[in-house]
Amino acid sequence: MSVLLGFLLGLVMVGLASSAKFDELFQSSWALDHLAYEGETLKLKLDNYSGAGFASKSKYLFGKVSLQIKLVEGDSAGTVTAFYMSSDGPNHNEFDFEFLGNTTGEPYLIQTNVYVNGVGNREQRLDLWFDPTKDFHTYSVFWNQRQVVFLVDETPIRVHTNLEHKGIPFPRDQAMGVYSSIWNADDWATQGGRVKTDWSHAPFVASYRNFDIDACECPVSVAAVDNAKKCSSSNEKRFWWDEPTVAELNLHQSHQLLWVRANHMIYDYCTDTTRFPVTPLECVHHRH
Ligand SMILES: *[C@@H]1O[C@H](CO)[C@@H](O)[C@H](O)[C@H]1NC(C)=O
Ligand SMILES: *[C@@H]1O[C@H](CO)[C@@H](O)[C@H](O)[C@H]1NC(C)=O
Repeated sequence: MSVLLGFLLGLVMVGLASSAKFDELFQSSWALDHLAYEGETLKLKLDNYSGAGFASKSKYLFGKVSLQIKLVEGDSAGTVTAFYMSSDGPNHNEFDFEFLGNTTGEPYLIQTNVYVNGVGNREQRLDLWFDPTKDFHTYSVFWNQRQVVFLVDETPIRVHTNLEHKGIPFPRDQAMGVYSSIWNADDWATQGGRVKTDWSHAPFVASYRNFDIDACECPVSVAAVDNAKKCSSSNEKRFWWDEPTVAELNLHQSHQLLWVRANHMIYDYCTDTTRFPVTPLECVHHRH
């Protein structure tokens, strides 16, 4: 009996910890009535009235941000669920995960993109080695002065390397917020926009848990230069993401990335010669 009670109490506490963590880090940014808790799980709903979204209360420079997401089950065609980091303003930087829904039984795609100084057009698309609608999986952005790494269950799926020494700008001066949302994008998302959202299957629900931000917090009241200074490692303080061991992928991670690219890559802007007759400069220099 007491074992069972302890177990139940444990469940309740996990639930509280998770929603407390959400409230501590995030707030609804769009359609509060389409965001709901169910135990330890946060749900975002899309129906024919509205999508929904949330945003971090703070902005961050460098570190690691992870969310566990279970994507829309069954028919998710036309829907996009996104998890991204972005700074503000016309010359903003942005790191995107976009999960493109599909008809029942057909694979979700992950589209990633990187914006630097307001310019994106760096799409990559992958399918996954699991069904992301059956269970929660961890999606992370790891960011330091040397690289931006997109990870799925700790497997790197994309690396955007700092190539400033080649004259290529790298996003490292602007603090970024953390965002997630679900919306209707049936003009492009599924099979090139050919498959439309079937509203008779609404609401489309994306579920979240285990919000984790291990990053340098940048208060909005503090000037950008001072935040940049605060978030740079120095002799007095050294952030873990500035350690030499995480300056680039380790050998195991490099192999994982090669495996992902060989087996799950659907599209890479770097090899799209129709769109880019002249290969984008960072593609020439990226090792991958
Ligand atoms: C939304 O869908 C519901 C249920 O299918 C329907 O009753 C309602 O009329 C729709 N509303 C709009 C604005 O299309
Ligand atoms: C949806 O399924 C089709 C057919 O399997 C596939 O070609 C496509 O890449 C999948 N994903 C999206 C987002 O269209």
